[in-house]
Amino acid sequence: MRIITAIAEMQAAARELRRGGTLALVPTMGALHAGHLSLIDAAKRDCAHVAATIFVNPLQFGPNEDFNRYPRTFEADCAALTAAGVDILFAPSAETLTPAGATTFIEVGGISDRLDGAHRPGHFRGVATVVAKLFHIVEPHRAYFGQKDAAQLAILRAMVRDLNFSVEIVACPIVREPDGLALSSRNRYLTAEQRRRATILHRSLAAAADLHTQGERNSQALIATMLQMLASEPTVIVEYAAVVDPGTLLPLADTTNGALIAVAARLGETRLIDNQLIGADHA
Ligand code: PAJ
Repeated sequence: MRIITAIAEMQAAARELRRGGTLALVPTMGALHAGHLSLIDAAKRDCAHVAATIFVNPLQFGPNEDFNRYPRTFEADCAALTAAGVDILFAPSAETLTPAGATTFIEVGGISDRLDGAHRPGHFRGVATVVAKLFHIVEPHRAYFGQKDAAQLAILRAMVRDLNFSVEIVACPIVREPDGLALSSRNRYLTAEQRRRATILHRSLAAAADLHTQGERNSQALIATMLQMLASEPTVIVEYAAVVDPGTLLPLADTTNGALIAVAARLGETRLIDNQLIGADHA
């Protein structure tokens, strides 16, 4: 695997790969786990070449968030990406990709203020801006993102549509631990006790999805079920439990045409999110 840190070199390398067939891009912030590697596997199945990126993006962290302590495991990440068959890893420094003095940002209006955006002001502006930069540098045919970050996916789809990027966004299913906890780089912050309690996110979604399967279509009933389950773990502080349209992230009164059910909660300092698509052709 070739590791590149300079923008011009990455542009040239990507151009070369595009000549040899479809090029996939898998953006990450590193601290790689099986969820990230599932995106690489999907990209490998679909495309001739795969470029991955590791960049802990300062623009998407709030002033009181975990940018400084975000896990950085570069050596292990390189080994995992090499084993997975990635052609090129782009791992620029913050000074290279987000130099001081830049005044242009991507704002995906409205949708960026919903779900996680409502609780993390400026977060999705930082995500959209850096992903747009990666799209310009790499110009992939396809880019792979996890359904785990459902709001991020909706925002990036809107950005690609509104700004006519010629990249196809591919969504990949959430990879979970055997007990249902969605894999996340932040899970390593959890104490053993918090780790046990963290399954309540997944279990509350599963309970709401079951209710939907049994015929309940009223979103308030599904939300009440999720909140009730989450309340059974009093140390888990709920940020939101929502039933929304997966494209616009706007609340849905009912789930007749399918919905995204999503939760976010804090366990101590650690913020976890999870979601599930229900109804229509999902479940
Ligand atoms: P990061 O949190 O490192 O995630 C990189 C990609 O892996 C995202 O598309 C995310 O949805 C996916 N992913 C994470 N956990 C997953 C899981 N359990 N199952 C499936 N996919 C999973 O998301 C980001 O980085 C950043 O915001 C980024 C897009 C790189 C922009 O900085």
